[in-house]
Amino acid sequence: MGSDGKQLPGGKQSAVKSWWQRFLNVGFVAGFLLVLLTYAVVSQQSQRFGPAAVIDSSPDDVAAMSRQAIKAPGEEAAGSAQENGGEEKAETTDTPAEDSADHHHQQQDTSGDSNQDQQQQQQQQEQEWRPKEDRAGVTEEPPKRDDTNAKPFDNGKVVCATAGPYSDTCDVFGDVRTNGTAHTVTLVPATSLPERREWTIKPYIRRSMSGIPEVTITQLDATSEESPAPACTVTHRVPAIVFALGGLTGNYWHDFSDALVPLFVASRRYGGEVQLLVSNIQPWWLGKYEAVVRRLSKYDAVDLDRDDKIRCFPRVTVGLRMHKEFDVVPELAPDGQRLTMTDFTAFLRETYSLPRSAPISLRNQNEDGQRKKPRLMLLHRGHYRKLVNVPEIVKAAEEAGFEVAISDPRFDVKVEELARSVNSFDVLMGVHGAGLTNAVFLPKGAVVIQVVPYGKMEPLARLDFGDPIVDMELRYLEYSITAEESTLLEMLGPDHPVIKDPESVHRSGWDKVAEYYLGKQDVRVDVDRFAPTLALAIDHLRQQ
Ligand SMILES: *[C@@H]1O[C@H](CO)[C@@H](O)[C@H](O)[C@H]1NC(C)=O
Repeated sequence: MGSDGKQLPGGKQSAVKSWWQRFLNVGFVAGFLLVLLTYAVVSQQSQRFGPAAVIDSSPDDVAAMSRQAIKAPGEEAAGSAQENGGEEKAETTDTPAEDSADHHHQQQDTSGDSNQDQQQQQQQQEQEWRPKEDRAGVTEEPPKRDDTNAKPFDNGKVVCATAGPYSDTCDVFGDVRTNGTAHTVTLVPATSLPERREWTIKPYIRRSMSGIPEVTITQLDATSEESPAPACTVTHRVPAIVFALGGLTGNYWHDFSDALVPLFVASRRYGGEVQLLVSNIQPWWLGKYEAVVRRLSKYDAVDLDRDDKIRCFPRVTVGLRMHKEFDVVPELAPDGQRLTMTDFTAFLRETYSLPRSAPISLRNQNEDGQRKKPRLMLLHRGHYRKLVNVPEIVKAAEEAGFEVAISDPRFDVKVEELARSVNSFDVLMGVHGAGLTNAVFLPKGAVVIQVVPYGKMEPLARLDFGDPIVDMELRYLEYSITAEESTLLEMLGPDHPVIKDPESVHRSGWDKVAEYYLGKQDVRVDVDRFAPTLALAIDHLRQQ
């Protein structure tokens, strides 16, 4: 998709640079746009691009990269059997929990470095942003000490989950007060608690993300005069969600994986009655996805980093949670909602008033008159990972019975227009890359064909798109490029290890994988070899 980080929010580049320079050879970064790519190198298993080796990567970018060892989704699943989705929870009081899952009593340690520099850089980037006036759901009040109006839980509680594979979150119930500029969320207990406790987390969905200010959650131990309970300047009746933007957003796939999907999971239960407090705020992002964000929260988002008020809430969730890349695990959705990826896509269809919730039916199109043809959208990438024989592919798809349209949406295309356009198709086809994210707008039951570049990239392709697409209840088809179909063969010759031994390239680490298989490769689809895949797509639509 034309998004590949083109419009990356400023400030990040320098914030990130020093970090990755320490870890990587930066030589080949030039020429690519800057979107972080996180690749998990877990012990030695970069030998294989197995699920344990690759966890976290942007489909589209080979620019700046971060490596980290994190748990594989497989491990997460294993964890969930043992302990409620691998999420460990720390409870601070004996107040009944909302869910009946077992909770581990565990105190998190805190560390207080707060990325002031990056924060300031980001602040400079966003001078023009000012939070709008608060509207409904808010009452301005004169400051007063120990305001205890909003308190559904007698003494309040803090429930933190910091053992998941990607994200750290804390849920704070009771009399909760935020100080945005200080990045603090404070629970003021109604009666004295035995101990003061503190957690520090990054509210971005990937805990390893640099350049994101940390938020400190404090449970005060007493309500006495000497305890530093800040007085409310604004009292909200609705709960709040604190989360950070920036990070990897700007890449279309990350916009969904890192923000829209998890924000949907965190906020859907409130039916719009929730206040978003956004750290590292990105006005362009909120503008781009305004229709979605507005349906999740009726209230104007507050720019947390510049919010000098003390806001009081009955409940604050700090941080969003990612279950799987660009996906939802129903069992892990909060408050027992069992949300699914199809709930998310149905929500998007409603949000953008997309007319089609089912693809074309080919079942009853036998004799009478003009047959309608199923429509195939062919994603055309302008730069790397291009399809070099588009006309041939178009011809093959037409021969298979499709009406074909070639699409190369720009980054600044209106999401609504794109959504409507994609929704009118029955098949979405493209080389592994952010454009396939548009699958979210397809009618349920439509088909996605992912063309997987040469070089043992299937596990990555499945993690980024294959699994999420299946969870959207779309039909997922994969077409793997052979060496003969890859431009790498003519570029490097048959004896180059990149051609002869992809596993050795994976063993050497992510740099070369990204450089060659994602960065320098274009593909020439062998249309004869591809024909059965097109036939499968037609077959599937016949069964609709
Ligand atoms: C928020 O915290 C900062 C830093 O501790 C403090 O200087 C400021 O006065 C607090 N804001 C309010 C409104 O109390």
